[in-house]
Amino acid sequence: MKKNILVTGGSGFIGSAIVKYLIRNKHNVIVLDNNSRGRSRRIEEVKNEIKFIKGDIRNKTKLLSIHNKIDTVIHLAYVNGTKHFYKKPYEILDIAVNGLLNILEFCRHKKVKNFFLASSSEVYQNPLKFPTNEMEMLKIPDIHNPRYSYGGGKIFSELYGLHFAKKYLKKFIIFRPHNVYGKDMGNDHVIPEFINRFKKIGKRKSFLIHGTGNEIRSFIHIDDFISGFDKIFRKGKNTEIYNIGTSEKVKISYLVNLIAKIYKKKIKIRKSKLLKGSPSKRCPDIKKIKKLGFNQKISLRHGIKKIILND
Ligand SMILES: NC(=O)c1ccc[n+]([C@@H]2O[C@H](COP(=O)([O-])OP(=O)(O)OC[C@H]3O[C@@H](n4cnc5c(N)ncnc54)[C@H](O)[C@@H]3O)[C@@H](O)[C@H]2O)c1
Repeated sequence: MKKNILVTGGSGFIGSAIVKYLIRNKHNVIVLDNNSRGRSRRIEEVKNEIKFIKGDIRNKTKLLSIHNKIDTVIHLAYVNGTKHFYKKPYEILDIAVNGLLNILEFCRHKKVKNFFLASSSEVYQNPLKFPTNEMEMLKIPDIHNPRYSYGGGKIFSELYGLHFAKKYLKKFIIFRPHNVYGKDMGNDHVIPEFINRFKKIGKRKSFLIHGTGNEIRSFIHIDDFISGFDKIFRKGKNTEIYNIGTSEKVKISYLVNLIAKIYKKKIKIRKSKLLKGSPSKRCPDIKKIKKLGFNQKISLRHGIKKIILND
């Protein structure tokens, strides 16, 4: 059924892919983004089919100036990119708290029925179980470490959102993306950072990384992410939480060598200290989303090639 949907953070990396998915499925879409990290080029191809509002989710007047009927909100607006967690923890928490309160107040005022909240794998920090399912304990291991502003903000959003929803919404679903990658994802993530460095590497042989290279991650290509999101959007159950990711776990050293091979470079990995609070292992248990019909189609090797060779 055709829905009227507000996407916050809709010109961001994931948001723009969700917006295009919604347009393909014939929904009416309004995007609200302050373009702090959002880029209009990402939604250029659908610009005549959506309404774009440039604004900050913390600006109540801006939100309440949306007069269109809205039945569903997909809330993605946030500050992503690990280096920002360390540099602007206050802003991150301000967007998490005041942004969320505003958007939920908007929902109450507009009688919005459905809410999809983008959370993150960062809510698990260093998980006790591996692969990590949705029942894992959520943590803020050190209140003084600015990194945890990001995960802490997401934990707040989940907790407040869930209990708000029981009172005011019909459906509230949380999804926790795990290391999504793809074309035009912005430069503040490990894959584009490595690719950009390989482009300029010249004859230098050593490649500096944070950590030992034995840290484990699972990356999901944006096209697979959208396929997972589609399952949740259509079949997800009220108040449920879903990891979106893959079970293809790789060492960071594997990722470096994979990119090196595509660029035909021979390098030696140089180790350094892991960023304070960065988990040594991260891999989601994806049984729950698989039950809805999700399957990974794009391997990391194929996905990275897709980015580099289309460059
Ligand atoms: N990319 C990932 O691997 C990943 C992993 C876990 C969780 N997430 C979550 O998914 C969501 C989307 O992530 P992304 O990778 O597309 O990040 P992104 O930075 O590309 O997108 C976020 C968007 O929010 C916008 N925004 C930021 N602050 C805003 C504000 N105050 N008001 C209005 N708009 C604002 C930015 O301009 C940007 O377009 C975020 O909530 C992020 O925390 C992403």
